[in-house]
Amino acid sequence: MMTFQSVILAALGTGALLAPLHAQTTLKDAYRDSFRIGAALGRQFYSGNDPAGAALVAAQFDSITPENDLKWEHVHPTPQGFNFDPADRYVEFGEKNHMFIVGHCLVWHSQTPRWVFQDDQGKEVGRDELLRRMHDHIAAVVGRYKGRINGWDVVNEALNEDGTLRRSPWQRIIGDDYIAKAFEYAHEADPKAELYYNEYSIENEPKRKGCVELIRKLLAAGIPVKAVGMQGHYNMEWPGVDQVDATIAAFAALGVKVNITELDIDVLPRVRPGNTADVNARAEATAAANPYTAGLPPEKQRALADRYAALFQVFLKHRDAITRVTFWGVTDKGSWLNNWPMRGRTNYPLLFDREGKPKPAFDAVIAVAKSAR
Ligand code: GLA
Repeated sequence: MMTFQSVILAALGTGALLAPLHAQTTLKDAYRDSFRIGAALGRQFYSGNDPAGAALVAAQFDSITPENDLKWEHVHPTPQGFNFDPADRYVEFGEKNHMFIVGHCLVWHSQTPRWVFQDDQGKEVGRDELLRRMHDHIAAVVGRYKGRINGWDVVNEALNEDGTLRRSPWQRIIGDDYIAKAFEYAHEADPKAELYYNEYSIENEPKRKGCVELIRKLLAAGIPVKAVGMQGHYNMEWPGVDQVDATIAAFAALGVKVNITELDIDVLPRVRPGNTADVNARAEATAAANPYTAGLPPEKQRALADRYAALFQVFLKHRDAITRVTFWGVTDKGSWLNNWPMRGRTNYPLLFDREGKPKPAFDAVIAVAKSAR
């Protein structure tokens, strides 16, 4: 028969009592003195459908971003119809867990219904009408969560790779000042909310320069841009840590904060040229492009951990500028990179594996925080 003592001793022998799973250092605790650690959440985390996932998020992260539920097509699918229920659950989840709650995103060219840019006859609307629609959308969505959502990605991905303004319907119909207008409307709807400009690939110099210019102009016009979001959809080669370092420094020099907003590291073979995170990019599926269906080989696991460690070293170096590092997803299983730019691959971009267990990359990220103390 096992006595109480023998159970304790057996547990000590396995290390179970010394390091039970949830007593290990968490991401948010390891980085508490430096910046918040966030995760982008799919609906299952706050709908009650994935209690284990929700517990993992509550334990490890102190900020959240909704993957989809505050995008225009989800929250405002028809001219008269808002669908606030999922977003309400999202905000309640963040409040219950005392998290910094991010709204994503107000003005973007993707995942925005076509009706936004058209009249009843299907003809393109003019500048005044589109500004009115943008205003009313922002007033309704930001206004509903006033004082509860702490920061908003106001404009997402307004730039081309060469640093010029993307010819999105917003830019074409309203003109270049649509960005300033979106910030004005968001500020009016919740003067205390932090407002962000969010973008990918600004680690590359031409796009970074365009982004620095854009932010400089907005600030000069008195637009309250609190931070620039570097999305951080990275792979094993790109960007170099020197590029990340230079990009954070460039924005810090402007006097804005930097958020890393959508961090993940694609470990699969590149199937498209360039380093775009354009959600509309697609590639044909091939078996050679999906080599790790049975698991990530240890040497790749190690390389991913080293890559994460190198990035977090740069983030820590800039801890005065960086307020938050948010991962785009929680576990490898839920990552968008299993289905982009090709459907049905097995990718390993995050810190938790398909069962929600910490990977070597998790340990590496924790170790960087400890080494900095
Ligand atoms: C972009 C968007 C996000 C998300 C990711 C990929 O970076 O900002 O909302 O769509 O792509 O899922």
